[in-house]
Amino acid sequence: MSSKITIIGAGSVGATIAYTLSNEDIASNIVLIDINKQKVEGEVMDIAQGTCFRDPISIVAGEYEDAKGSDIVIITSGIARKPGQTRIELTQTNVNIMKSIAPQIVKAAPDALYIIVSNPVDIMTYVFTKISGLPENQIIGSGTILDTARLRCGLSEHFKVSQKNIHAYVFGEHGDTSFIPWTGAYISGVSINEYYELAKSLGKDVKELDKEAMLAYVQKSGGQIIANKGATFYAVSKAVCKLCGIVLASSDSVATVSSMMHGEYGIEDVCLSTLTLVGPNGIQGKVPMRMNQKEIEQLKKSADALKEVIAQINL
Ligand code: 2OP
Repeated sequence: MSSKITIIGAGSVGATIAYTLSNEDIASNIVLIDINKQKVEGEVMDIAQGTCFRDPISIVAGEYEDAKGSDIVIITSGIARKPGQTRIELTQTNVNIMKSIAPQIVKAAPDALYIIVSNPVDIMTYVFTKISGLPENQIIGSGTILDTARLRCGLSEHFKVSQKNIHAYVFGEHGDTSFIPWTGAYISGVSINEYYELAKSLGKDVKELDKEAMLAYVQKSGGQIIANKGATFYAVSKAVCKLCGIVLASSDSVATVSSMMHGEYGIEDVCLSTLTLVGPNGIQGKVPMRMNQKEIEQLKKSADALKEVIAQINL
């Protein structure tokens, strides 16, 4: 473990990613960067002072130059929506932040793999892809890995079966137009409906799955958590740390991350999530999971919604 990870943005998400990384054996060097020096120094002190309870690890507050030699750079910067602000206004504000960050961090760490977490993540991944000048394989949007985790959590609770036996995904935008391609959803090798029949025949106390309600649970989770506690940061941080582990591993994995589409399912010039092969060289390609016509249309609808936003932003 001699990897270096730089995190841009010491807000709740950036700081929690740093903290989560400090609890794992993924990186030996962590750099946290933020324009708010006082906040970033405080976060780093707080995290670093807990590291005596583990094997040595370095965590520092830094400047862009300190990202030099990073294996991974995680971008979390951006502001949350203010009351009365439209989604597009928020998007343009965060695009502007991304435009100011990108040249500086890319200059310092041109060979790193970039994980974009800032919201709206698919738009930010697209913008970073367009303005960074980096090869597309180096750019990974966190996309719907969190939504997929929420789905697996929801299905696990519903069917009372371990999350690791569930292979089901959320595709499209990390947002309102995401959807679940049930055609590719399996529990331990059988479809969701077949699993329900099996569980019933084994006398398990399970109900038939309401698929619409499950999608609503996934889509509304972020908003629900924000309404309850003001922000979401634990699960997304675990998801991003898992992604760091994936790209630092010796073999590829499949994850629902956001990256540029090049004609897959008839979609191009937009970033969104489908099954993607990702590994030490970043994005390797999209896995063409079989979907029915309705699901392909849902993916296209999601792409169109994102393209509508892209058409309105000032790149
Ligand atoms: C989430 O879904 C808001 O993107 C954040 O938790």
